[in-house]
Amino acid sequence: MADVRAAILGTGRAYPEGILTNADLERMVETSDEWITSRTGIKERHRASESEYTSMFAVEASRQAIERARIDPIDLGLVICATVSPDQILPSTGCLIQAELGANRAAAFDLAAACSGFLYGLTLADMMIRTGQTRYALVIGAEVLSRYVDFTDRSTCILFGDGAGAAVLGPAEGDRGILSTKIYSDGRYAEQLYSPGGGTRVKPTAETLAQGMHYFKMKGNELFKMAVRSMADVSTEVLNEAGYKPEDVKLFIPHQANQRITDAVASRLNVDSSIVYSNIAYHGNTSSASVPIALDECIEKGKVSEGDLVLLASFGGGVTWGGALIKW
Ligand code: UT7
Repeated sequence: MADVRAAILGTGRAYPEGILTNADLERMVETSDEWITSRTGIKERHRASESEYTSMFAVEASRQAIERARIDPIDLGLVICATVSPDQILPSTGCLIQAELGANRAAAFDLAAACSGFLYGLTLADMMIRTGQTRYALVIGAEVLSRYVDFTDRSTCILFGDGAGAAVLGPAEGDRGILSTKIYSDGRYAEQLYSPGGGTRVKPTAETLAQGMHYFKMKGNELFKMAVRSMADVSTEVLNEAGYKPEDVKLFIPHQANQRITDAVASRLNVDSSIVYSNIAYHGNTSSASVPIALDECIEKGKVSEGDLVLLASFGGGVTWGGALIKW
């Protein structure tokens, strides 16, 4: 089949109503609103209740994306749920979402690339559409990270939030669509951000649970430097590959990990802060959901017009990173 570009046809987002503010965290660990705000830019984050789980937000975000793309769920050939906080180990959250949506002809699976999951999924969906394997694909980033956050560890519990973002991709018209993507990993740095227990290496037992081995452990300082370097480099790479320069970009959506990381990436790339989107103050770091939630907000706010160049970049546990350049 002809090499047709893929475009984002519709997006959606959903998150729990529950909100955890910096003031709430001040009552839980030794921290302050001043420290969290100045070191991360975060003021509050959404937090799921005990009865809410990942696919609930994924399905809601997906329904919006499908409606805006004006397609029928049965026409989806691919459902990718990027997540590191699935509903359960088996079956995949992708299959649970597929069933809820009635996307009965789609291949569905989960993709574990932490905060880069959405960009990994976007890259795979783009390839499937380009090669004619499928016409329409749904890519979701969905997390209930609060289940894996140790609310006695002040270095991590202030950062993470829950939510989902989704995008429907399909064949692009004219010269629009995804111009270039790049995804990378370096597993030598796996222990910079990981949960040591709960899998087959350290099986979940009453003891490992009591020791909190299923919680995320993070070496924030080292990740910070890698995140800045990797997101700036991959952004430059996708721009070069498509023959564009940073000054051509109309909207830059980096993964929302820390406002200081976002500012440092923008400064390395030499892009004006006015084109850099940030919602970290109200969402915190939602891992794979961060980029699609931000993208959906930008569309709603009218920050993207036809023909605009939109740059996406992410970095996360693994470590993984990725970039994409889209002509809207
Ligand atoms: O999603 C992608 C992967 N994740 C990331 O990219 C995260 C990247 N890292 C970060 O965002 C930052 O490293 C953090 C926000 C996690 C930490 O900020 P930092 O400026 O790197 O602080 P730090 O870890 O160097 O800690 C500085 C001080 C320490 O105290 P001492 O040893 O200097 O006395 C920490 O114990 O701040 C202390 N600290 C806190 N103080 C108040 C750490 N967390 C807190 C806290 N409240 N919540």
